[in-house]
Amino acid sequence: MSSELSPIDKAKFVCAKRAAQFVENGMRVGLGTGSTAAWLVRCLGERVRDEGLHITGVPTSTRTAELAREVGIDVITLDAAKRLDLTIDGADEFDGAFNLIKGGGGALLHEKVVATSSDRMIVIADVGKEVETLGAFPLPIEVIPFGLQTTHALVDETLVSMDVLGRDSSLRMDGDKPFVTDEGNHIIDLHLKRIGDARQLAMTLNQLPGVVENGLLIDICDTVVLGFGDGKVEVRDINDGTVASERMVFAESDNLFSDLSD
Ligand code: A5P
Repeated sequence: MSSELSPIDKAKFVCAKRAAQFVENGMRVGLGTGSTAAWLVRCLGERVRDEGLHITGVPTSTRTAELAREVGIDVITLDAAKRLDLTIDGADEFDGAFNLIKGGGGALLHEKVVATSSDRMIVIADVGKEVETLGAFPLPIEVIPFGLQTTHALVDETLVSMDVLGRDSSLRMDGDKPFVTDEGNHIIDLHLKRIGDARQLAMTLNQLPGVVENGLLIDICDTVVLGFGDGKVEVRDINDGTVASERMVFAESDNLFSDLSD
């Protein structure tokens, strides 16, 4: 399999595979959304099948739920699980303080709820997701359909007084219709280029009527498992300040992703 994968896919695969090793028998695990999280779900499915690992998963989107069931992971709701032991999810960007931009895949609301309900959050990311300052990746915010244009105008007005470099925004589309989230809401992407004060921006955006949530995750992520195209992974922990480096081996049995289409 390894020869068929691009370096970025190898990076996503190895960080997902390494992060799957943090999951222990009996755990209630939040399952993220996106292409990297999809590798994780497959890796966990492999452990369920090959090692008899028993876990319950709380998916952060309908597509992750489908994949989890497909690979044999028991799926329950967050309310049934209550507190989660661990959430593993991808990210669009992370900085040196492990603050994140999420929501490129449109699942930011469920992702944020699930991550904050977990004792630990591990982010799995290819090396291209690391940034000095958040903001090059458009920041998604989830807004309700009612008064969409009014809310959009209010967001634009609010950005004028924010510590950001760019102030363009766009309604996310799905073909010729606004993109619809799992909660039936829409997404506005904020093209900020550089976010000077992510904490203040996150709080300000969430105070606007019509805005349900923003894609900034501040002080939520504990660990980043970073994947490189040559199979190297780095496990960085913000709580104990450690960085551990190792190399993952691509085995023939790892072709479990050949039919992955996220
Ligand atoms: C989904 O809404 C996002 O938060 C994803 O976790 C994020 O976009 C990372 O996706 P990839 O793993 O596909 O890059």
